[in-house]
Amino acid sequence: MTKDAVDLSVTLGKIKLKNPVMPASGTFGYGEEFAPFLDLNDLGAVIVKGTFLKPRMGSPQFRMEEIPGGMICTIGLQGIGVDRFIKEKLPYLRQFSTPVIVNIGGESVDEFARIADILSKEDGIAGLEINISCPNVKKGGMQFGIDPNAAFEVVKAVRNSTDLTIIPKLTPNVTDITIFAKACEEAGADAISLINGLVGMGIDINTRRSKLGKNLQAGITGPCIHAIALRLAYLVVQAVNIPVIGVGGITGAEDALEFFIAGATAIEIGTYNLIDPRVMIKTIEGIRQYLADNGINNINDIIGSFVLS
Ligand SMILES: Cc1cc2nc3c(=O)[nH]c(=O)nc-3n(C[C@H](O)[C@H](O)[C@H](O)COP(=O)(O)O)c2cc1C
Repeated sequence: MTKDAVDLSVTLGKIKLKNPVMPASGTFGYGEEFAPFLDLNDLGAVIVKGTFLKPRMGSPQFRMEEIPGGMICTIGLQGIGVDRFIKEKLPYLRQFSTPVIVNIGGESVDEFARIADILSKEDGIAGLEINISCPNVKKGGMQFGIDPNAAFEVVKAVRNSTDLTIIPKLTPNVTDITIFAKACEEAGADAISLINGLVGMGIDINTRRSKLGKNLQAGITGPCIHAIALRLAYLVVQAVNIPVIGVGGITGAEDALEFFIAGATAIEIGTYNLIDPRVMIKTIEGIRQYLADNGINNINDIIGSFVLS
């Protein structure tokens, strides 16, 4: 079988993706930043930086520190706000055939509902990823993602405000992630993505202060979280009947294929975009090659094919 004969298309709610590879929010800006490196038309979807109603400055410097196998970072949901996103970023993204998914945040249930309503009125948006999982923001971060009732309320409010495909994004910083996945499904989610960063910290032994300046806690992301994310995605796949999107530590096709075999319908690549801006393109080609080599002509035939022995 030739590589070109392989069908990589998958469906998330109402969104048809030509392939299952997307950027993880916050590591791909608004798409334009990566245009010198790749053609946005080649991606499954574009997921943009987290967007709140109002612009946000984010955390003070320092915000990022490399650690073995990844980084700890606290951007603190810096963003330009929904009005500027619509005026300045959306027209650029509308030029492409690739569906646009907007990652949204809010400091209250009502704010999530309002931003969903505003974005639903705009052409060129296919879905909303609901960030209830940011590990380094007190208000509007993980607070909704570590209480199943709050997660339900946010997703329900967004559901009531939009017909777009909605994808709550879960935090790994809970005891049983499946409770949260089920709450989101019950509230009307079309798909679920996971994971956001794990909470961590770092200490500069010379100053004995945080490696992240005035910031204490930060999200751990990158290859070092892949095995954790894979297990959690596997657990969530067993718990719900809606598609699951695997996120965490993906560096190429092999990591992505592990998620598909575990049952994920699509994947997002985050931190590795900062190391290799073409990693998503290489991953798409690697998945295609693997499927062709194994005589599989449709990606859906490998999703959930894990053999438990
Ligand atoms: C610099 C940076 C910014 C991020 N911003 C957001 C964001 O705005 N919204 C969100 O839901 N997740 C955000 N994340 C989390 C990622 O989307 C992703 O869930 C996480 O990095 C795990 O994937 P990875 O190991 O492939 O990086 C951010 C991560 C990084 C590293």
